Amino acid sequence: MQEARCMTKARKLGVPTPALYAVDHLLHTLTFEYVQGSSVKEVLLDFGSHGVIEERQDDIAAQIGDAVAKMHDGGLVHGDLTTSNMIIQQGTNRLVLIDFGLSFTSTLPEDKAVDLYVLERALLSMHSSCGNVMERVLAAYRKSSKQWSSTLNKLAQVRQRGRKRTMVG
Ligand SMILES: Nc1ncnc2c1ncn2[C@@H]1O[C@H](COP(=O)(O)OP(=O)(O)O)[C@@H](O)[C@H]1O
Ligand SMILES: [Mg+2]
Repeated sequence: MQEARCMTKARKLGVPTPALYAVDHLLHTLTFEYVQGSSVKEVLLDFGSHGVIEERQDDIAAQIGDAVAKMHDGGLVHGDLTTSNMIIQQGTNRLVLIDFGLSFTSTLPEDKAVDLYVLERALLSMHSSCGNVMERVLAAYRKSSKQWSSTLNKLAQVRQRGRKRTMVG
C-alpha cells in the first residue's frame, strides 16, 4: 500500500512512473504498466564498454535530476535511487522511475540528501567510466528544485560522514 501510495504521489508530482493498474489486498500484489526499454544501469554500462554518447548521457542525467527534484519538492523521498530503478523508455527516451518499495514522505533536507547520496554512490561504483554523470544530475536538480540549497548543503555533510566512516571502519 505504501509503495502504491508513493508511486501515485510521484505521478501526481509530474514524475514519470508506470501506470498502476491494480492493487490486490488479498494476494498483496500490485500490477503495473510494463515499460519497454533498458534500465539506466544497462545504458550507462553500454556507454562504458562501447563509448559514451555524450548527448544521450547528458539528457539522461538531466531527466534524473529533474525527476528527483520534483519528487523532493513534493515531499517524497524515493529511498532506493539506483540506476536499476530507472528505465529509459524505448522510442521516447523518457526516464521512468520505478520501485517505490522504500519510498516515504518527508520534507527533511537530510532525507533528501541521503536519497541523492545513494544515487551518487551507485553512479560512482558502477559507472566510473561515464565521466561525471552525478555533476550533471545535480546541475539539473539545482535548476528544478526550489529547495536545492538546503538539500545540497546537507549532501555535503552526508558525504563527509560517509568519508569519516570509511576512514574509521
Ligand atoms: N513497470 C515496469 N516495466 C518494466 N520493467 C519493470 C517494471 N517494474 C519493474 N521492472 C523490472 O523488474 C525489476 C525489479 O523490479 P523492482 O520494482 O525494482 O523490484 P525490486 O524491489 O526487486 O528491486 C526492475 O529492476 C526492472 O528491471
Ligand atoms: Mg529495484
